[in-house]
Amino acid sequence: MCPPDHFRIQYEINPWMDRTHPVSHTRAAQQWNDLRALLEKLGAQVSTLDPVEELPDLVFTANAGMVFQNRVVMAHFRHAERQGEVAHTTAWFEGQGWQIETLPEGCYFEGAGDALFCGDTLFAGYRLRSDVGGLQDLGQMLGVRVIPLELVDPYFYHIDTCFCPLDEKTALYYPEALDDYGRRVMEELVGDLIAVTEEEARRLCCNAVVVGRDVVMNGASPRLVEALRARNFQTHATPLDEFLKAGGSAKCLTLRLDGEEAASWKRSE
Ligand code: ARG
Repeated sequence: MCPPDHFRIQYEINPWMDRTHPVSHTRAAQQWNDLRALLEKLGAQVSTLDPVEELPDLVFTANAGMVFQNRVVMAHFRHAERQGEVAHTTAWFEGQGWQIETLPEGCYFEGAGDALFCGDTLFAGYRLRSDVGGLQDLGQMLGVRVIPLELVDPYFYHIDTCFCPLDEKTALYYPEALDDYGRRVMEELVGDLIAVTEEEARRLCCNAVVVGRDVVMNGASPRLVEALRARNFQTHATPLDEFLKAGGSAKCLTLRLDGEEAASWKRSE
């Protein structure tokens, strides 16, 4: 995670961002600290990346890269506003001894924000941020099956805003953010899919962090809490509305370094 010291709405690169709706620094800091404390309480160990004044979105570490075993595939951001983050996050990974990978020059890729494992399959979003071509290279590089999913709603511009694998066969998703093909593939490949409503999607309920059977998100409806409970997941709501102003929530604010709960490779390590 990266502390929100310099988090603000300085530019607009998605429909959530509006420079006339600034962030309250005090509230953002409180919400970020509460999220971190909650994740630690649930058993996570949190490492931090130093914030950088000129990089307000560095706080969304999910986009730094995609982690696979001891390798990390670094992001190549579509928007110039975020491209400066890469040197900083690459230096962090190098310092920690990770094997750094990059996709071919010229293809955009926004890290774990657009690439999530459910079982042994990597579900990857494209069009609004990442490029479809790069996703095939990614699959070859890692030797995994990649399912590219076209994102059709600009409010759900990364796959982690509309899809959340919970375990190897269970996931939350917002069907309207995908096209017919994407919905069909997902229904075919994920055993137990829980659809969220438009209202839940707009609260970024799919942008949740999963730690074991605990699911952390920015506010959940009783219906969703019950759907998760029925599958033996416990929901923890923690307010993150300051970060919603930038189009991000719990998941975007974290990057799982030991593999997502839902990734089969995590367990075979
Ligand atoms: N303002 C950031 C952007 O538009 C938010 C990134 C949220 N990250 C995510 N993984 N969905 O790039």
